[in-house]
Amino acid sequence: MNEQVERIREEAAHAIAAAASPAALEALRVSTLGKKGQVTELMKTLGTLPPDARKNAGAELNRLKDELAAAIEMRAAALAGAELDARLAAERLDVTLPPRPHADGRIHPISQTIDEMVAIFGEMGFVVAEGPDIEDDFHNFTALNLPPEHPARQSHDTFYLAGAEADIAPKLLRTHTSPVQIRTMMTEKPPIRIVVPGRTYRCDYDATHSPNFHQIEGLVIDRTSHMGHLKGCLIEFARAYFDIPELPVRFRPSYFPFTEPSAEMDIGCSRAGGELRIGAGGDWLEILGCGMVHPKVLANCGIDPNEYQGFAFGMGIERVTMLKYGIPDLRTFYEADLRWLRHYGFLSIDTPSLTGGLSR
Ligand code: DAH
Repeated sequence: MNEQVERIREEAAHAIAAAASPAALEALRVSTLGKKGQVTELMKTLGTLPPDARKNAGAELNRLKDELAAAIEMRAAALAGAELDARLAAERLDVTLPPRPHADGRIHPISQTIDEMVAIFGEMGFVVAEGPDIEDDFHNFTALNLPPEHPARQSHDTFYLAGAEADIAPKLLRTHTSPVQIRTMMTEKPPIRIVVPGRTYRCDYDATHSPNFHQIEGLVIDRTSHMGHLKGCLIEFARAYFDIPELPVRFRPSYFPFTEPSAEMDIGCSRAGGELRIGAGGDWLEILGCGMVHPKVLANCGIDPNEYQGFAFGMGIERVTMLKYGIPDLRTFYEADLRWLRHYGFLSIDTPSLTGGLSR
């Protein structure tokens, strides 16, 4: 009996220490301590021994059993640790690796410009508001002080939706972002300070007009904002957007039904030698319309014009994008030509900010 115990002890200890996997270890456990394992089988023979020898052999066998169980447990823990180490090594993530911008994807210049504008106006305390592309006559025209017979309606070349003729409230594709002024003033209480970037539509197509284009609208309503604030805000914007601190700016009297007084803002440029240069003297380029919100528009939205006042502005996005990035033809914005996008598009890491300009 003693010899057998010693042999098992040696052989099993060896095999357990060498077990290469949890499955191999389990097989060893079964073949030694299992129901038909070597140690169990020996236990069964104890009854055939004389009482004295039985006592000694029994104690010896129990010791062997405990030793093997402990050895198996130790080996199991070691195998589990090794497995974890291997997984950790295989799944290692190098967090010090710099990001690799996607080689092909680009931000469209229109999206980039909207992001830049929102960053600039955001720094001034404006928040972004949105409205539907499919508008009704009331929000797009009437509430903005363009009643049905108003001649300015004609200049908008509106796309009407089918059935609009018969409808009392005809649906149309918004011709400007100004209806979001109305939607905001009817649902929010002053003070209001919003910018509204978005799609706009007019039935018009040539080198400088597209049936679908983009505008950004601005609206400030409170008790005290005046024309001086309007000018300061828009001058600050233009200089930040074009990244030219001394950019010449002028305001010309103009007419919009929804503002009084109304103005258009020009930026200084030069066209010497047929080349357009922003910021150089001599010439002027119109970039936006603006004015003090008309008292009738405030009243149309349920805001008391004796208590509140403010200013608004609206700007075509394509035009200032073309000016800033030297894009010659408006139509190319919508052609989805990959070569054009690779050339004029932006990387996702070109994040705009008020002071940073563009780190290209
Ligand atoms: N909605 C005008 C247009 O599309 C632009 C505009 C002019 C908007 C003056 C304004 C504004 O908010 O005050 O031509």
